[in-house]
Amino acid sequence: MVPPALTSSDSVLIIGATGFVGKRLIPELAKKNIRLRLLVRDLAKASPLILPGADIEVVQGDLVANEGTAEALRGIHTAYYLVHSMGGKTLFKNEEYAEKDRKAAKNFMAAAEAAGLKRVIYLGGLGETGDNLSEHLRSRAEIAQILSSGAPKATVLRAAVIIGAGGASYEMLRYLVERLPVMITPKWVETRIQPIAIKDVLEYLVGCLLNPDTAGKNYDIGGPEIFTYVEMMQKYAETRGLAKRFIIRVPVLTPMLSAYWVDLVTPIPSGIAHPLIEGLRNEVICHDNRIDEYVHIAKTPFKDAVLTAYSEEKDGPGITGF
Ligand SMILES: NC(=O)c1ccc[n+]([C@@H]2O[C@H](COP(=O)([O-])OP(=O)(O)OC[C@H]3O[C@@H](n4cnc5c(N)ncnc54)[C@H](OP(=O)(O)O)[C@@H]3O)[C@@H](O)[C@H]2O)c1
Repeated sequence: MVPPALTSSDSVLIIGATGFVGKRLIPELAKKNIRLRLLVRDLAKASPLILPGADIEVVQGDLVANEGTAEALRGIHTAYYLVHSMGGKTLFKNEEYAEKDRKAAKNFMAAAEAAGLKRVIYLGGLGETGDNLSEHLRSRAEIAQILSSGAPKATVLRAAVIIGAGGASYEMLRYLVERLPVMITPKWVETRIQPIAIKDVLEYLVGCLLNPDTAGKNYDIGGPEIFTYVEMMQKYAETRGLAKRFIIRVPVLTPMLSAYWVDLVTPIPSGIAHPLIEGLRNEVICHDNRIDEYVHIAKTPFKDAVLTAYSEEKDGPGITGF
């Protein structure tokens, strides 16, 4: 059954409002006069997100600790779920995040059912299911399953690398290509990827909210081009007017060695970088474009997405401060 359409008296909750995607979604929804509530862990991070004239409430909470969850969900029509638990510095493999993410999603679902939530919109990761899937992508898929298992109708959007200032995967790409004219890489550089501009992701997120027919469905979302990682790195260099990068493939570089290399060259916290690097072996491309029947957008070319991201970075360290 299609859930009721959002009306002007309904409220929408954003969980992950202080993150790369969440903080950019706030003004897009506020422009449409949508009443918003934000669940945030740290109130200090929320104050810059409160736009003058917009109807925005803030609730302090933490999904893993299950604090503030019920309060945040009270009277909410649709919740955006833009949360993951990767982060921090770790010398070795980050093994805790999948368990935390599972706990967070289960706590959310229990509170959402009790509150009578109608819809949840989750942004997860592309990548085929199977034994070879990285722990990170497997965890993202597991969260999609948990969020799709209850009474609220879930819309799952699955994306590969999002191109935008402050996005962890994009920043890894940017630092590697900007800093290294010569790169020694393992064979994952031949894996295919379909990056997407943050602008397009936001349009899909808003479009799904406004079209109740997207409830209860999973969609792949991607930009207009498919690259291998090596092609994407070269395209980044070309877009930025940098010399062509020398990329030397070696068979012996393990994901862990690549991860330590990324730690040396980029400021991305290892707790985020390592799980992302492990996922580079998995092809992340869209297998269908059913979303286009419901949400009509002009897909942003990779080059334009990079130029926009770079223009935002130029004046500072990127929106989330890498
Ligand atoms: N970035 C990409 O390239 C990309 C690509 C594909 C899919 N995605 C998906 O998009 C979604 C959002 O990613 P993002 O890049 O915006 O991540 P992000 O910048 O790291 O933001 C994560 C958000 O989750 C919040 N959070 C973490 N643990 C929480 C908890 N226990 N309780 C409440 N909030 C918690 C964080 O709050 P704090 O500010 O307090 O830490 C932050 O607001 C994720 O599902 C991710 O898998 C991202």
